[in-house]
Amino acid sequence: MIEVCTGDITRLDVDAIVNAANPSLLGGGGVDGAIHQAAGPQLREFNRGLGGCPTGEARISPGFRLPARHVISTVGPVWHGGEQGEPDLLKNAYRHSLELALDNRVRSIAFPAISTGVYGYPLVPAAEIAISVMRCFESRFDLILACCFSQSVADVYEDALERIADCSE
Ligand code: APR
Repeated sequence: MIEVCTGDITRLDVDAIVNAANPSLLGGGGVDGAIHQAAGPQLREFNRGLGGCPTGEARISPGFRLPARHVISTVGPVWHGGEQGEPDLLKNAYRHSLELALDNRVRSIAFPAISTGVYGYPLVPAAEIAISVMRCFESRFDLILACCFSQSVADVYEDALERIADCSE
């Protein structure tokens, strides 16, 4: 089942929350900053041993002080107008996060709106990509949550969820 919710992803009691990280995996602002703040310093120490993460890929770590058991860090693309492979990179970020979750027996997972903040990806196309990839994995999870930080973002996700009923990778 795919659901849209509004709130702070760090407070969700799910098997995994996904972090919109940067390639260093050592923390930053936005949701990255919030997740590292809530998980505590062990997350950064653990991630230091991972050697970074290329755009479109995903890495998994324990949740440490978070209610979530795992953090799946993924790196979305920076928006450069849409002609530099950004859509495929964003699809890969969602797909690799979900595949990594399956490999780790994750049954409930929450995503922020990857790349739509600092990285400047336009919200509507980003939400459409997110929902399209989530549809491809929906049957293999108990719950896939799109955790939006504001009602206006949640409205965009709810609209995409109504319009996009099928998987499209
Ligand atoms: N819970 C859920 N969503 C959140 C939270 C939170 N606590 N904090 C921010 N968000 C939302 C933002 O409002 C936005 O909709 O997460 C979405 C992604 O925005 P960013 O966090 O800016 O992530 P992104 O656009 O992918 O940029 C990643 O920003 O913080 C740095 O280190 C990070 O370099 C990386 C870049």
